[in-house]
Order: sequence, then C-alpha cells, then structure tokens
Amino acid sequence: MARVFITGSSDGLGQMAGQLLIEQGHRVVLHARSEQRGKQALAAVPEAESVVIGDLTSIAQTRGVAEQVNALGAFDAVIHNAGVGYREPRRIATEDGLPQVFAVNTLAPYILTALIRRPKRLIYLSSGLHKSGDTSLQDLSWEQRPWQGQQAYSDTKFHDVLLAFAIARRWPDVLSNALEPGWVATKMGGAGAPDDLDAGHRTQVWLAVSDDPAAKVTGEYFFHMGLRKPIPATRNADLQEKLLDACADFSGVRLPQS
Ligand SMILES: NC(=O)c1ccc[n+]([C@@H]2O[C@H](COP(=O)([O-])OP(=O)(O)OC[C@H]3O[C@@H](n4cnc5c(N)ncnc54)[C@H](OP(=O)(O)O)[C@@H]3O)[C@@H](O)[C@H]2O)c1
Repeated sequence: MARVFITGSSDGLGQMAGQLLIEQGHRVVLHARSEQRGKQALAAVPEAESVVIGDLTSIAQTRGVAEQVNALGAFDAVIHNAGVGYREPRRIATEDGLPQVFAVNTLAPYILTALIRRPKRLIYLSSGLHKSGDTSLQDLSWEQRPWQGQQAYSDTKFHDVLLAFAIARRWPDVLSNALEPGWVATKMGGAGAPDDLDAGHRTQVWLAVSDDPAAKVTGEYFFHMGLRKPIPATRNADLQEKLLDACADFSGVRLPQS
C-alpha cells in the first residue's frame, strides 16, 4: 500500500487517478485550488485521506501547498497533474506577473518538487504537444512574443518533460518520469477529444505504485504504460539546467542539487 499526493485532483485525470488508487487500496491526498473546490474534491473521492488547498497560479500559495503536504508526513509518490489548457485567449497574468499557463504547468511542479519532502517516485503530466514546445527557452514569461495560447501550453508540456528528466539525472534515489495521457474528454480536453478517457489516468497510477519492473524506471517518457520517445531536446542536460535556473529565478526557490 502506497501513499500518493496528486495535484489538481478536483477534476479530470487527477480525480480519476485518485479514485483508481483508492480502489487499489492505496492512500491518497488530494489537492484543490480553493476551500470550495476542496470540499467538492473530497465529495467526489470521499475515501481520500484529506485535501490540501492552494491556487497554483500563486507562488506564495504553491509554497503553502508544499508546507501542507510536508505537515502530513512522507509520501511514496507525487503525481504532478494540475494543468491549465491550451485555449487561453490572451496572456493572463498571475499575481506574480507570470502567464497563468506557465505558472501552473511549469513553475508550480518545479516549486513543489523542490519543497515537498522527497518521495520515492515523481510523475509529471506532459502531452504529445510537447513536441511543438519552444526548445530555445527564450522569453518563458511571454513578454516579448505575441501571445499564442497553444504555443504557450506546448512550451509548458515540453518543460514538464525537461523537469522530469532533470530530476531523474540529479536525484538518482527517485524514480522520475513523464507521460502523455492522450487527448481525452476532460474539462481541458473538451467533449470531442478522440482518445480513450479510461486509459488516460492509468499510466500515472501505474508509475506511482506498480511493482512491475517496467514501471520502476527513471528518466523515461510513457504513453499507455509503454515507452514513447519524447523529442531529443528533452534529453539535453544544458536545457534542463537552463529551465531549472529560470524557475529558481522566477520563484526564489532552489532545487536541491542531489
Ligand atoms: N485532457 C487531455 O486531453 C490532456 C492531454 C494531454 C495532457 N493533459 C494533461 O493532463 C493533466 C490533467 O488534465 P485534465 O485533462 O485532467 O484537465 P482538467 O480536467 O481541466 O483538470 C485540471 C485539474 O487541475 C486543476 N487546476 C488547474 N489550475 C489550477 C490552479 N491554478 N490551482 C490549483 N489547481 C488547478 C483543476 O482544478 P479546477 O477543477 O478547480 O479547475 C483540475 O483539478 C494536465 O497537466 C494536462 O496538461 C491532458
């Protein structure tokens, strides 16, 4: 039996992963952006141990999420699932002046990775769209580029793979992997999404808790419990470090070296 923390588990794939983990006999702590969403998250997954609250658009609240998680003790796995989609029509600035999609999809998993007591396994939700991500890592905060919602989202999903692989390289005592769930009909994916929703949450659950040797690897990228090749730039250690440095500068939070 494992204990798993899942970000963004008030809806969609995070909630589904929580439900499945509980059905398998594991302990789950949920996360929601507000007290109200937290109540709804617990109502949907009532067997969850508890819910931590914090809006990931805010660096201060994201730090607060890490503090709440650490106060609950050790976790076997953390699934970095929370995300904002690709349909943002304009650059929505957070209280820290960053684009919301970057704050939630890139900076929050970085901060939580750095500040939550190290689990045995880390899982990062990416997307097939990471292949269109801007591998220059220029203008991460979209101050010079004209806004393009889908490009901004794709960039962050590229960052999620860079982050997973950076951790795998830096922290050999942790299994750190990324995955794409397919294009599935959640709130984010939209009703017309073509892929199998019932397969969308299983890989992250498997990576979090399975004793299958295929799940106990690190620095890999998955789709439907199988290895898939991410773009080669994700393997570039200089780019990984560049992203970590940028996230440290934006957040003031440093990632432990090893
Ligand atoms: N669905 C797809 O087709 C698809 C494809 C590729 C990758 N993904 C990835 O899969 C992950 C889960 O997506 P999903 O489809 O399940 O999306 P979803 O149904 O929209 O759920 C997203 C979750 O993240 C939470 N969240 C968003 N912004 C937040 C914030 N500022 N603070 C705290 N929580 C926040 C949401 O909370 P609320 O419920 O309060 O909004 C919700 O619980 C994402 O990382 C996404 O990029 C999804």
